[in-house]
Amino acid sequence: MAIPMVIFNNGNKFPILGLGTLAANSDDCKNAVRAALDAGYRHFDTAYAYGNEADIGEVLQEYMNAGKLTRSDFFVTTKLWLTYHQPDRVLECLDLSLSKLKLEYVDLFLMHTPCAFEDTGNGFFPIRDDGTPAFLNIPPEETWKGMERAVTDGKAKNIGVSNFSCGQIERICKIATIKPVTNQVECHAYFNQGDLQSFCKKRGIILTSYGSLGSPGRPDMFKKDSDPVLMEDALIKKLAKKYKKSAGQILLRNLTQRNIMVIPKSTNPDRIKQNMQVFDFTLTGCEMKQIEGIDTNNRIFFNQHFVGHPEAPY
Ligand SMILES: NC(=O)c1ccc[n+]([C@@H]2O[C@H](COP(=O)([O-])OP(=O)(O)OC[C@H]3O[C@@H](n4cnc5c(N)ncnc54)[C@H](OP(=O)(O)O)[C@@H]3O)[C@@H](O)[C@H]2O)c1
Repeated sequence: MAIPMVIFNNGNKFPILGLGTLAANSDDCKNAVRAALDAGYRHFDTAYAYGNEADIGEVLQEYMNAGKLTRSDFFVTTKLWLTYHQPDRVLECLDLSLSKLKLEYVDLFLMHTPCAFEDTGNGFFPIRDDGTPAFLNIPPEETWKGMERAVTDGKAKNIGVSNFSCGQIERICKIATIKPVTNQVECHAYFNQGDLQSFCKKRGIILTSYGSLGSPGRPDMFKKDSDPVLMEDALIKKLAKKYKKSAGQILLRNLTQRNIMVIPKSTNPDRIKQNMQVFDFTLTGCEMKQIEGIDTNNRIFFNQHFVGHPEAPY
């Protein structure tokens, strides 16, 4: 079954489901992209910060050279890293991504976070010589002007944001010539982002969910022993039994029925296939309400590096 498309506020269509690639590198990443392409995925989510753009680019070239794919068949999302928020550095970061991806444009370019850091060369979330975080106070509105240039220069078909609060979205909307099409945020049945979704919807912005499955393989810095395991939830397991699906498939169906884009990550070919088989059943209105009822407002991706930053979104 083909993957349904969402329609962005600029009229462009985009697959509602894609492959997440955080923490997938080298052969693991390449094999995952091959398995996903073979299964029918056409949307790949990466970032400058993931260190795997070259792996993804290599496989896309391989499939295009073999005549299995043309450029307009697939969609690539990448993200601006937080040390490139000066408007005139935005394209510098995108150009680095494009060269690794071996592409002339990306389909979607996101500001990875609203928080700018100075490029001190010391650390992934850079620190200064005295050990303090190298926060930079660059308002996201300023960076947005560089993001818009990515579109006018033909290097991105669509632009959006990630990890933005309602207030930050509003500030962008006030000054934007080109509106963001999506806000990519943590969103799943235990953290359903209902209010943020309503806020964005009124402004024509679609949510993209990360951590849709509860991100069991997330980096250690985001792990707490007290975090409940989403795929073990009793209601989700009951619905999985009813529909003869896995817990993961129920979670992905719930989000896509809310018109939220999903980018489940897997490097396992069986799970890659399984995660796209979520469009051949429909949860009832009552079941959707029940799932809404298990929300605990429990954010798992709390990034300590942003604490104290003037643009910290939470
Ligand atoms: N914008 C941002 O700040 C941000 C932050 C985090 C993530 N992201 C993006 O969102 C994507 C998804 O988020 P995520 O990777 O954190 O979490 P996720 O998609 O919720 O979970 C991925 C984990 O679940 C496992 N898994 C996948 N399918 C499964 C299934 N059907 N049954 C059981 N386990 C399954 C995977 O293991 P296997 O690989 O072994 O299958 C992996 O450990 C990322 O890859 C990245 O592209 C963006």
